[in-house]
Amino acid sequence: MIGMKPWLLGAMLFSTLCAEEFNYDETKVSPYVLPLLFEHKDGTPAMSASLWQQQRRAEIVSLLEKEMFGKAPPRPALRFRVMEAATPALGGKALRQQVRVFFSSKDDPALDLLVYRPAQHSKPAPVIFGLNFKGNQSVQADPAILLCRSWIDNKDLKKPDVHHALEESRGIDAGKWPMAYAIERGYAVVTGYYGDIDPDVDDGWKNGVHALFPENESQRNAESWGSLAAWAWGMSVAMDWIVQEPSLDGKRVALQGFSRLGKATLWAAACDERFAAVISQNSGAGGAALNKRIFGETVGRLNRSFPHWFCGNFRQYSDNEAAMPFDSHFLLALAAPRPLLITSATEDRWADPHGEFLAARATNPVYQLFSHTGLTATEMPAPGKLVNDRIGYFLRQGPHSVTEEDWKAYCDFCDRHMPFNP
Ligand code: GCU
Repeated sequence: MIGMKPWLLGAMLFSTLCAEEFNYDETKVSPYVLPLLFEHKDGTPAMSASLWQQQRRAEIVSLLEKEMFGKAPPRPALRFRVMEAATPALGGKALRQQVRVFFSSKDDPALDLLVYRPAQHSKPAPVIFGLNFKGNQSVQADPAILLCRSWIDNKDLKKPDVHHALEESRGIDAGKWPMAYAIERGYAVVTGYYGDIDPDVDDGWKNGVHALFPENESQRNAESWGSLAAWAWGMSVAMDWIVQEPSLDGKRVALQGFSRLGKATLWAAACDERFAAVISQNSGAGGAALNKRIFGETVGRLNRSFPHWFCGNFRQYSDNEAAMPFDSHFLLALAAPRPLLITSATEDRWADPHGEFLAARATNPVYQLFSHTGLTATEMPAPGKLVNDRIGYFLRQGPHSVTEEDWKAYCDFCDRHMPFNP
Protein backbone atom coordinates (compact mmCIF):
# COMPACT_ATOMS: atom_id res chain seq x y z
CA MET A 1 0.00 0.00 0.00
CA ILE A 2 2.97 2.30 0.73
CA GLY A 3 3.43 4.68 -2.17
CA MET A 4 -0.03 3.97 -3.52
CA LYS A 5 -1.92 7.03 -4.74
CA PRO A 6 -4.55 8.03 -2.15
CA TRP A 7 -7.28 8.19 -4.83
CA LEU A 8 -6.50 4.62 -5.90
CA LEU A 9 -6.63 3.43 -2.31
CA GLY A 10 -9.96 5.27 -1.88
CA ALA A 11 -11.39 3.70 -5.05
CA MET A 12 -10.30 0.22 -3.89
CA LEU A 13 -11.90 0.75 -0.50
CA PHE A 14 -15.10 2.05 -2.10
CA SER A 15 -15.40 -0.94 -4.40
CA THR A 16 -14.73 -3.32 -1.49
CA LEU A 17 -17.51 -1.70 0.51
CA CYS A 18 -19.90 -1.75 -2.44
CA ALA A 19 -19.15 -5.42 -3.00
CA GLU A 20 -20.05 -6.24 0.60
CA GLU A 21 -23.00 -8.59 0.74
CA PHE A 22 -25.32 -9.24 3.64
CA ASN A 23 -27.32 -12.31 4.44
CA TYR A 24 -31.10 -11.99 4.67
CA ASP A 25 -31.84 -15.67 4.26
CA GLU A 26 -32.63 -17.60 7.46
CA THR A 27 -31.63 -20.87 5.79
CA LYS A 28 -28.12 -19.49 5.23
CA VAL A 29 -27.43 -18.80 8.89
CA SER A 30 -24.56 -21.15 9.75
CA PRO A 31 -24.56 -22.97 13.07
CA TYR A 32 -22.96 -20.90 15.82
CA VAL A 33 -22.16 -21.44 19.47
CA LEU A 34 -23.32 -18.89 22.01
CA PRO A 35 -20.94 -18.37 24.94
CA LEU A 36 -22.55 -19.33 28.25
CA LEU A 37 -23.59 -16.53 30.55
CA PHE A 38 -22.32 -18.57 33.44
CA GLU A 39 -20.83 -21.96 34.15
CA HIS A 40 -22.92 -25.06 34.64
CA LYS A 41 -21.71 -28.03 36.66
CA ASP A 42 -23.31 -31.43 36.05
CA GLY A 43 -26.04 -29.67 34.06
CA THR A 44 -27.08 -27.33 36.89
CA PRO A 45 -26.20 -23.65 37.07
CA ALA A 46 -23.14 -22.96 39.22
CA MET A 47 -24.60 -19.54 39.91
CA SER A 48 -27.05 -17.74 42.18
CA ALA A 49 -28.68 -14.33 42.09
CA SER A 50 -26.27 -12.98 44.70
CA LEU A 51 -23.19 -14.42 42.97
CA TRP A 52 -24.41 -12.88 39.73
CA GLN A 53 -24.90 -9.47 41.37
CA GLN A 54 -21.67 -9.56 43.35
CA GLN A 55 -19.29 -11.06 40.83
CA ARG A 56 -20.36 -12.33 37.43
CA ARG A 57 -22.21 -9.17 36.45
CA ALA A 58 -19.12 -7.05 37.07
CA GLU A 59 -16.98 -9.48 35.06
CA ILE A 60 -19.30 -9.10 32.08
CA VAL A 61 -19.42 -5.30 32.41
CA SER A 62 -15.58 -5.28 32.33
CA LEU A 63 -15.51 -7.64 29.35
CA LEU A 64 -17.87 -5.51 27.28
CA GLU A 65 -16.16 -2.32 28.39
CA LYS A 66 -12.81 -3.68 27.23
CA GLU A 67 -13.90 -5.46 24.06
CA MET A 68 -16.81 -3.41 22.77
CA PHE A 69 -17.67 0.03 24.12
CA GLY A 70 -14.55 1.32 25.85
CA LYS A 71 -14.14 2.83 29.28
CA ALA A 72 -15.96 6.06 30.09
CA PRO A 73 -14.55 8.43 32.72
CA PRO A 74 -16.51 9.04 35.92
CA ARG A 75 -19.14 11.76 35.55
CA PRO A 76 -17.89 15.12 36.81
CA ALA A 77 -19.81 17.47 39.11
CA LEU A 78 -22.70 18.75 37.04
CA ARG A 79 -24.40 22.15 36.99
CA PHE A 80 -28.09 22.51 36.21
CA ARG A 81 -29.70 25.70 34.88
CA VAL A 82 -33.45 26.09 34.63
CA MET A 83 -34.16 27.39 31.12
CA GLU A 84 -37.92 27.22 31.47
CA ALA A 85 -39.91 26.59 34.66
CA ALA A 86 -42.99 24.35 34.48
CA THR A 87 -45.34 25.90 31.91
CA PRO A 88 -48.74 24.57 30.72
CA ALA A 89 -48.46 22.82 27.35
CA LEU A 90 -50.35 20.39 25.10
CA GLY A 91 -53.64 22.15 25.68
CA GLY A 92 -53.20 22.23 29.45
CA LYS A 93 -52.80 18.44 29.79
CA ALA A 94 -49.05 18.72 30.39
CA LEU A 95 -46.43 20.88 31.98
CA ARG A 96 -43.31 21.59 29.93
CA GLN A 97 -39.93 22.25 31.55
CA GLN A 98 -36.48 22.82 30.09
CA VAL A 99 -33.14 22.56 31.83
CA ARG A 100 -29.54 22.85 30.68
CA VAL A 101 -27.01 20.43 32.18
CA PHE A 102 -23.36 21.57 32.11
CA PHE A 103 -20.66 18.92 32.31
CA SER A 104 -17.93 21.31 33.43
CA SER A 105 -17.32 24.98 34.24
CA LYS A 106 -17.48 25.65 30.48
CA ASP A 107 -20.74 26.61 28.74
CA ASP A 108 -20.23 23.98 26.02
CA PRO A 109 -20.85 21.17 25.52
CA ALA A 110 -24.08 21.03 27.54
CA LEU A 111 -27.15 18.82 27.41
CA ASP A 112 -30.55 20.49 27.03
CA LEU A 113 -33.32 18.41 28.56
CA LEU A 114 -36.95 18.86 27.59
CA VAL A 115 -39.67 17.51 29.88
CA TYR A 116 -43.40 17.08 29.36
CA ARG A 117 -45.20 15.74 32.39
CA PRO A 118 -48.88 15.08 33.11
CA ALA A 119 -50.45 18.17 34.64
CA GLN A 120 -52.92 16.26 36.78
CA HIS A 121 -50.60 14.02 38.86
CA SER A 122 -50.36 14.92 42.51
CA LYS A 123 -47.38 12.58 42.97
CA PRO A 124 -44.02 12.61 41.13
CA ALA A 125 -44.58 11.21 37.64
CA PRO A 126 -43.07 8.00 36.26
CA VAL A 127 -40.78 8.76 33.33
CA ILE A 128 -39.94 7.45 29.90
CA PHE A 129 -36.58 8.99 29.06
CA GLY A 130 -34.82 8.73 25.71
CA LEU A 131 -32.36 10.74 23.66
CA ASN A 132 -33.49 12.08 20.28
CA PHE A 133 -31.73 12.26 16.92
CA LYS A 134 -32.56 15.72 15.59
CA GLY A 135 -32.64 18.15 18.49
CA ASN A 136 -35.34 18.84 21.07
CA GLN A 137 -37.14 21.19 18.69
CA SER A 138 -37.72 18.23 16.35
CA VAL A 139 -39.85 16.24 18.81
CA GLN A 140 -42.84 18.64 18.88
CA ALA A 141 -43.86 21.58 16.71
CA ASP A 142 -43.78 23.79 19.77
CA PRO A 143 -42.15 27.22 19.28
CA ALA A 144 -41.27 27.39 22.99
CA ILE A 145 -38.77 24.53 22.69
CA LEU A 146 -35.21 25.85 22.67
CA LEU A 147 -33.49 25.37 19.33
CA CYS A 148 -30.61 22.93 19.55
CA ARG A 149 -27.18 24.64 19.76
CA SER A 150 -24.98 21.66 18.82
CA TRP A 151 -23.66 20.29 15.52
CA ILE A 152 -26.55 18.70 13.69
CA ASP A 153 -27.14 16.75 10.50
CA ASN A 154 -29.74 18.42 8.24
CA LYS A 155 -29.78 15.77 5.50
CA ASP A 156 -33.53 15.21 6.02
CA LEU A 157 -34.15 18.86 5.23
CA LYS A 158 -31.96 18.49 2.11
CA LYS A 159 -29.35 20.80 3.64
CA PRO A 160 -26.42 18.45 4.14
CA ASP A 161 -23.90 21.30 4.42
CA VAL A 162 -25.73 23.17 7.16
CA HIS A 163 -24.79 21.98 10.62
CA HIS A 164 -26.83 24.15 12.96
CA ALA A 165 -30.48 23.57 13.87
CA LEU A 166 -33.02 25.26 11.62
CA GLU A 167 -36.46 26.66 12.51
CA GLU A 168 -37.96 24.44 9.84
CA SER A 169 -36.86 21.36 11.81
CA ARG A 170 -39.47 22.04 14.50
CA GLY A 171 -41.66 18.96 14.87
CA ILE A 172 -39.97 16.94 12.08
CA ASP A 173 -39.69 13.92 14.39
CA ALA A 174 -42.97 14.42 16.25
CA GLY A 175 -44.27 11.10 14.91
CA LYS A 176 -41.54 9.34 16.90
CA TRP A 177 -42.39 11.31 20.05
CA PRO A 178 -46.19 11.12 20.62
CA MET A 179 -46.08 13.26 23.76
CA ALA A 180 -49.85 13.73 24.04
CA TYR A 181 -50.31 9.95 23.98
CA ALA A 182 -47.67 9.31 26.67
CA ILE A 183 -49.15 12.07 28.84
CA GLU A 184 -52.61 10.55 28.46
CA ARG A 185 -51.15 7.24 29.61
CA GLY A 186 -49.76 8.97 32.71
CA TYR A 187 -46.05 9.13 31.80
CA ALA A 188 -43.70 12.08 31.80
CA VAL A 189 -41.37 12.12 28.80
CA VAL A 190 -37.85 13.47 29.13
CA THR A 191 -35.62 13.86 26.10
CA GLY A 192 -32.34 15.45 25.03
CA TYR A 193 -30.36 15.59 21.78
CA TYR A 194 -27.68 12.87 21.49
CA GLY A 195 -25.36 15.27 19.63
CA ASP A 196 -25.32 17.55 22.69
CA ILE A 197 -23.24 14.77 24.24
CA ASP A 198 -21.23 13.75 21.23
CA PRO A 199 -21.91 14.80 17.63
CA ASP A 200 -22.23 11.67 15.51
CA VAL A 201 -19.23 12.26 13.25
CA ASP A 202 -15.82 10.64 13.21
CA ASP A 203 -13.83 13.78 13.99
CA GLY A 204 -10.89 12.40 15.97
CA TRP A 205 -12.59 13.09 19.34
CA LYS A 206 -12.26 16.84 19.03
CA ASN A 207 -15.87 17.68 19.82
CA GLY A 208 -18.49 16.56 22.34
CA VAL A 209 -17.69 15.23 25.78
CA HIS A 210 -14.54 13.38 24.70
CA ALA A 211 -12.83 16.75 24.36
CA LEU A 212 -13.64 17.51 28.01
CA PHE A 213 -11.11 14.88 29.06
CA PRO A 214 -7.97 15.87 27.11
CA GLU A 215 -5.73 13.77 29.36
CA ASN A 216 -7.70 10.63 28.37
CA GLU A 217 -7.80 11.59 24.73
CA SER A 218 -4.04 12.18 24.42
CA GLN A 219 -3.53 8.61 25.64
CA ARG A 220 -6.22 6.95 23.57
CA ASN A 221 -5.86 3.21 23.18
CA ALA A 222 -7.94 0.23 22.05
CA GLU A 223 -10.01 0.41 25.26
CA SER A 224 -10.85 4.11 25.07
CA TRP A 225 -14.50 5.08 24.95
CA GLY A 226 -16.26 5.58 21.66
CA SER A 227 -19.43 7.51 20.85
CA LEU A 228 -21.86 4.81 22.03
CA ALA A 229 -20.19 4.85 25.45
CA ALA A 230 -20.40 8.65 25.43
CA TRP A 231 -24.14 8.62 24.64
CA ALA A 232 -24.65 6.05 27.42
CA TRP A 233 -22.63 8.28 29.76
CA GLY A 234 -24.90 11.18 28.74
CA MET A 235 -27.98 9.09 29.58
CA SER A 236 -26.63 8.76 33.12
CA VAL A 237 -26.00 12.51 33.20
CA ALA A 238 -29.67 13.05 32.38
CA MET A 239 -30.56 10.56 35.11
CA ASP A 240 -28.48 12.59 37.59
CA TRP A 241 -30.83 15.47 36.88
CA ILE A 242 -34.03 13.39 36.86
CA VAL A 243 -33.38 11.80 40.28
CA GLN A 244 -33.09 15.18 41.99
CA GLU A 245 -36.16 16.70 40.27
CA PRO A 246 -39.09 16.56 42.74
CA SER A 247 -41.83 16.45 40.09
CA LEU A 248 -40.41 13.22 38.60
CA ASP A 249 -40.25 9.76 40.16
CA GLY A 250 -36.55 8.84 40.01
CA LYS A 251 -37.36 5.27 41.05
CA ARG A 252 -39.62 4.81 38.01
CA VAL A 253 -37.55 5.81 35.02
CA ALA A 254 -37.76 3.65 31.91
CA LEU A 255 -34.81 4.26 29.59
CA GLN A 256 -35.77 4.15 25.90
CA GLY A 257 -33.59 4.25 22.79
CA PHE A 258 -34.05 3.60 19.10
CA SER A 259 -31.55 2.15 16.64
CA ARG A 260 -27.98 3.31 17.45
CA LEU A 261 -29.47 4.83 20.59
CA GLY A 262 -31.08 1.45 21.28
CA LYS A 263 -27.53 0.06 21.40
CA ALA A 264 -26.41 2.91 23.69
CA THR A 265 -29.47 2.34 25.88
CA LEU A 266 -28.49 -1.25 26.59
CA TRP A 267 -24.99 -0.17 27.55
CA ALA A 268 -26.30 2.70 29.71
CA ALA A 269 -28.60 0.30 31.56
CA ALA A 270 -25.65 -2.05 32.07
CA CYS A 271 -23.53 0.72 33.59
CA ASP A 272 -26.25 2.47 35.56
CA GLU A 273 -28.65 0.38 37.61
CA ARG A 274 -30.80 3.38 38.56
CA PHE A 275 -32.85 2.92 35.37
CA ALA A 276 -35.85 0.91 36.56
CA ALA A 277 -36.78 -0.48 33.14
CA VAL A 278 -35.11 -0.67 29.74
CA ILE A 279 -36.67 -0.32 26.27
CA SER A 280 -34.40 -0.98 23.31
CA GLN A 281 -36.01 -0.53 19.91
CA ASN A 282 -34.67 -1.81 16.57
CA SER A 283 -31.12 -1.79 17.97
CA GLY A 284 -29.79 -4.54 15.68
CA ALA A 285 -26.10 -5.45 15.36
CA GLY A 286 -24.02 -4.20 18.26
CA GLY A 287 -27.32 -3.95 20.18
CA ALA A 288 -29.87 -6.67 20.91
CA ALA A 289 -29.32 -8.83 17.78
CA LEU A 290 -27.09 -11.90 18.01
CA ASN A 291 -23.98 -10.95 16.06
CA LYS A 292 -22.88 -14.55 15.55
CA ARG A 293 -25.90 -15.18 13.28
CA ILE A 294 -24.36 -12.86 10.68
CA PHE A 295 -27.80 -11.83 9.46
CA GLY A 296 -28.29 -8.29 8.13
CA GLU A 297 -25.71 -5.84 9.46
CA THR A 298 -22.42 -7.39 10.60
CA VAL A 299 -19.73 -6.36 13.07
CA GLY A 300 -17.37 -5.62 10.17
CA ARG A 301 -19.85 -3.32 8.50
CA LEU A 302 -20.52 -1.55 11.83
CA ASN A 303 -16.83 -0.92 12.42
CA ARG A 304 -16.16 0.20 8.86
CA SER A 305 -19.16 2.52 8.56
CA PHE A 306 -19.06 3.94 12.06
CA PRO A 307 -15.45 3.75 13.25
CA HIS A 308 -16.20 6.12 16.12
CA TRP A 309 -19.02 4.13 17.75
CA PHE A 310 -17.16 1.29 19.47
CA CYS A 311 -13.71 0.99 21.03
CA GLY A 312 -10.68 -0.14 19.01
CA ASN A 313 -10.75 -3.68 20.43
CA PHE A 314 -14.14 -4.35 18.83
CA ARG A 315 -12.45 -4.26 15.40
CA GLN A 316 -10.82 -7.62 16.04
CA TYR A 317 -14.30 -9.14 15.57
CA SER A 318 -14.91 -7.56 12.17
CA ASP A 319 -15.75 -10.47 9.83
CA ASN A 320 -14.73 -12.62 12.76
CA GLU A 321 -17.88 -12.91 14.89
CA ALA A 322 -17.11 -16.55 15.73
CA ALA A 323 -14.16 -15.36 17.83
CA MET A 324 -16.33 -13.16 20.08
CA PRO A 325 -16.21 -14.51 23.66
CA PHE A 326 -19.65 -12.90 24.17
CA ASP A 327 -22.72 -11.97 22.18
CA SER A 328 -25.69 -9.66 22.63
CA HIS A 329 -27.27 -11.86 25.32
CA PHE A 330 -24.37 -10.76 27.57
CA LEU A 331 -25.37 -7.14 27.04
CA LEU A 332 -29.06 -7.87 27.61
CA ALA A 333 -28.31 -9.89 30.74
CA LEU A 334 -26.84 -6.79 32.37
CA ALA A 335 -30.37 -5.34 32.50
CA ALA A 336 -31.45 -8.21 34.79
CA PRO A 337 -33.46 -8.46 36.93
CA ARG A 338 -35.06 -5.23 35.67
CA PRO A 339 -37.89 -5.28 33.14
CA LEU A 340 -36.43 -5.26 29.62
CA LEU A 341 -38.45 -4.67 26.45
CA ILE A 342 -36.93 -5.50 23.07
CA THR A 343 -38.80 -4.22 20.04
CA SER A 344 -38.30 -4.90 16.34
CA ALA A 345 -40.10 -4.16 13.06
CA THR A 346 -41.03 -6.68 10.36
CA GLU A 347 -39.31 -4.81 7.51
CA ASP A 348 -36.20 -4.01 9.52
CA ARG A 349 -34.23 -7.04 8.34
CA TRP A 350 -30.99 -5.03 8.62
CA ALA A 351 -31.49 -5.13 12.41
CA ASP A 352 -32.40 -8.85 12.38
CA PRO A 353 -35.67 -9.03 14.39
CA HIS A 354 -35.34 -12.81 14.78
CA GLY A 355 -31.79 -12.41 16.13
CA GLU A 356 -33.12 -9.87 18.64
CA PHE A 357 -35.82 -12.30 19.74
CA LEU A 358 -33.34 -15.17 20.09
CA ALA A 359 -30.99 -13.00 22.16
CA ALA A 360 -33.86 -12.11 24.48
CA ARG A 361 -34.57 -15.84 24.89
CA ALA A 362 -30.90 -16.56 25.52
CA THR A 363 -30.99 -14.05 28.39
CA ASN A 364 -33.63 -16.05 30.30
CA PRO A 365 -31.18 -18.02 32.51
CA VAL A 366 -30.13 -14.82 34.28
CA TYR A 367 -33.72 -13.70 34.89
CA GLN A 368 -34.46 -17.19 36.21
CA LEU A 369 -31.74 -16.75 38.84
CA PHE A 370 -33.98 -13.99 40.21
CA SER A 371 -37.09 -16.19 39.98
CA HIS A 372 -38.42 -14.32 36.97
CA THR A 373 -39.46 -16.28 33.91
CA GLY A 374 -37.83 -13.93 31.41
CA LEU A 375 -39.36 -14.21 27.93
CA THR A 376 -41.84 -17.08 27.85
CA ALA A 377 -42.64 -17.02 24.13
CA THR A 378 -40.76 -19.79 22.34
CA GLU A 379 -41.68 -18.55 18.85
CA MET A 380 -41.67 -15.02 17.46
CA PRO A 381 -45.08 -13.47 18.24
CA ALA A 382 -47.36 -12.19 15.48
CA PRO A 383 -46.74 -8.54 14.54
CA GLY A 384 -48.60 -6.15 16.80
CA LYS A 385 -48.82 -8.60 19.71
CA LEU A 386 -46.80 -7.56 22.76
CA VAL A 387 -45.34 -10.42 24.79
CA ASN A 388 -45.60 -8.59 28.08
CA ASP A 389 -43.18 -10.65 30.19
CA ARG A 390 -40.34 -9.42 32.41
CA ILE A 391 -38.31 -9.66 29.22
CA GLY A 392 -40.87 -8.31 26.77
CA TYR A 393 -40.77 -8.58 23.02
CA PHE A 394 -42.74 -6.58 20.45
CA LEU A 395 -42.64 -6.87 16.68
CA ARG A 396 -44.33 -4.02 14.82
CA GLN A 397 -45.50 -4.36 11.25
CA GLY A 398 -43.50 -1.90 9.17
CA PRO A 399 -40.08 -0.31 8.71
CA HIS A 400 -37.19 0.80 10.92
CA SER A 401 -38.81 3.65 12.83
CA VAL A 402 -40.72 4.56 15.99
CA THR A 403 -44.49 5.02 15.92
CA GLU A 404 -47.34 5.56 18.36
CA GLU A 405 -47.96 1.81 18.19
CA ASP A 406 -44.49 1.29 19.67
CA TRP A 407 -45.28 3.80 22.40
CA LYS A 408 -48.46 1.88 23.18
CA ALA A 409 -46.27 -1.19 23.72
CA TYR A 410 -43.88 0.87 25.90
CA CYS A 411 -46.76 2.13 28.06
CA ASP A 412 -48.42 -1.30 28.34
CA PHE A 413 -45.04 -2.76 29.34
CA CYS A 414 -44.34 -0.02 31.90
CA ASP A 415 -47.90 -0.23 33.31
CA ARG A 416 -47.28 -3.89 34.06
CA HIS A 417 -43.67 -3.87 35.23
CA MET A 418 -43.20 -0.35 36.62
CA PRO A 419 -46.69 0.21 38.12
CA PHE A 420 -47.68 3.56 39.48
CA ASN A 421 -50.66 4.88 41.47
CA PRO A 422 -51.33 8.53 40.56
C1 GCU B 1 -27.53 2.36 10.43
C2 GCU B 1 -26.63 1.40 11.17
C3 GCU B 1 -27.34 0.72 12.32
C4 GCU B 1 -28.00 1.75 13.21
C5 GCU B 1 -28.87 2.65 12.38
C6 GCU B 1 -29.45 3.85 13.11
O1 GCU B 1 -28.52 1.65 9.75
O2 GCU B 1 -26.12 0.50 10.24
O3 GCU B 1 -26.43 -0.03 13.08
O4 GCU B 1 -28.72 1.12 14.24
O5 GCU B 1 -28.09 3.24 11.35
O6 GCU B 1 -29.02 4.21 14.17
O7 GCU B 1 -30.35 4.46 12.52
